[in-house]
Parts: sequence; C-alpha cells; structure tokens
Amino acid sequence: MTQRVRLGVNIDHVATVRNARGGASPDPVRAAREALAAGADGITAHLREDRRHISDADIDHLSAVLREQERPLNLEMAVTQEMLAIALHHRPHAVCLVPEKREERTTEGGLDVVGGHNWITPFVGRLNDAGARVSLFIGADPAQIEAAKRTGAAVVELHTGAYCDAVRDERPEDAAAELAALTAGAAHAHALGLEVHAGHGIDYETVAAVAAIPQIMELNIGHFLIGEAIFVGLGPAIGRMRDLMDQARGLEAAA
Ligand code: PXP
Repeated sequence: MTQRVRLGVNIDHVATVRNARGGASPDPVRAAREALAAGADGITAHLREDRRHISDADIDHLSAVLREQERPLNLEMAVTQEMLAIALHHRPHAVCLVPEKREERTTEGGLDVVGGHNWITPFVGRLNDAGARVSLFIGADPAQIEAAKRTGAAVVELHTGAYCDAVRDERPEDAAAELAALTAGAAHAHALGLEVHAGHGIDYETVAAVAAIPQIMELNIGHFLIGEAIFVGLGPAIGRMRDLMDQARGLEAAA
C-alpha cells in the first residue's frame, strides 16, 4: 500500500519576522496552531545557539500547546550540552540533530556523523533513553547513513538542499544526480532499518520528486511555506503542499 508522507511544518521564520521588530507579532505558536489545523502532521522548530529566530520561550509555549493537542514537536538542535539539557527538560516527541555554524545563514550541509561518531553517539543514547525519536540530518552519502545507524538513531533526515538549489538554478544534470543520490540514500537507509525523512529548500516545484521516493516517510518544510503564506495565507500554502505530496504518492488529494 502506498503510504502518505507526513508533513512537518517548520515555523522558524515566523519568529524571524517577529524578531525583526521585537515584540510578539507574528506569533510562531499561532502559526503552529494554524499549520496543524491546515493539515500539518507536526511542527518543527530549530532552537539555534544564537537564538536568531526561535527563542527558549517559544519552545516552552510550543511544547505546551503541542502536548495539549497531542501533536508531535520535532526540535532541531545542535549537538551541544546546552541543547541536550533543553531537550531533556522538554522531552519533545522528536529531536533532529543538525550541524550548526553561527556564520551560516541556514543549515548548509549535513552532520558529519562519520567524523563525529564518538561524540554524537552518547547524545543519541541520552535522547533515546528520554523517549525522543532521534533523527540525524545528513547528506545522502552511504558512509554517513551507515555511521548514523551505528549511533543508535532511529531516523535519518536527508538534506535536500543541493537538489533544490540545482532545480532552482536550472542545472538539470546536477538536479538529476542529486535526486539519484537521494533516491539511493533513502533505499540504503531503509534497508538498514532506519526511518527516512527529508527536508531543506523544498518548494512546490521540488516537492513531488522528493515525496515520490517510496522510503521517505516525512518531509520538513519551512522557509518556502512561510514566504508563500504572505501571498496566499498559511492554510492554503500548506494545503497545496499537502496535495502535491499526496499526488506524488498517487493518493487522492484532500477534498
Ligand atoms: N530540516 C532541517 C533539519 C532543517 O534544518 C531545516 C531548516 O531549518 C528544514 C528541514 C527546513 O528547511 P526549509 O526552511 O528550507 O524548508
């Protein structure tokens, strides 16, 4: 049976707009509620070390609201002791470990699990013990996928940024090569018993090819949806993305 792909909506950039002026508006928690009402399966938020968008208070509020609604929070975070303590305090449904550099505009590459195996593995263990579903954000590289499996993580999230950039920049050969790597990576991870997610840079144009990869169970999408919401509203933007994901799986679009 073809399975529906879950959609995690990343609300970081609602907080980016709020922080441009300080104050409380627009409220990422309101965005989370609206995203869920519009068909998101869960909410993703990245608490960065420099707190450039999501704040500690946002995580407090999101945790409470999502727990009340019995919906999953996926906390993206760097592999640091500070973030580990925050995750252990809030016990979100899922934690996605990401590389983080202060100077980057967004998460540019995947985590180096091969190089960082010895320090990543204890983090995964602590989070697993706390009941979180741990995912590692990595490139679709067989060595990284195998190292991710050895950490004890249940999930890998494959970085789709290079594929999406190649589509956007009209480099069809690169796009085909990146998509082939994602397709092979998803199959390899699944064969090792890992659940496969994907995300970064996905828009209406790129979502179908990624959602059609059969082993992918969840997409996490943020920047494009929040930008599109300026023009059409968050609900319709999510609704269209949801329909494109369902069509890519050969499922009926929601009525
Ligand atoms: N998945 C991960 C692990 C991310 O770090 C991000 C960006 O925060 C996303 C998905 C969403 O990427 P985008 O905002 O480009 O859709």
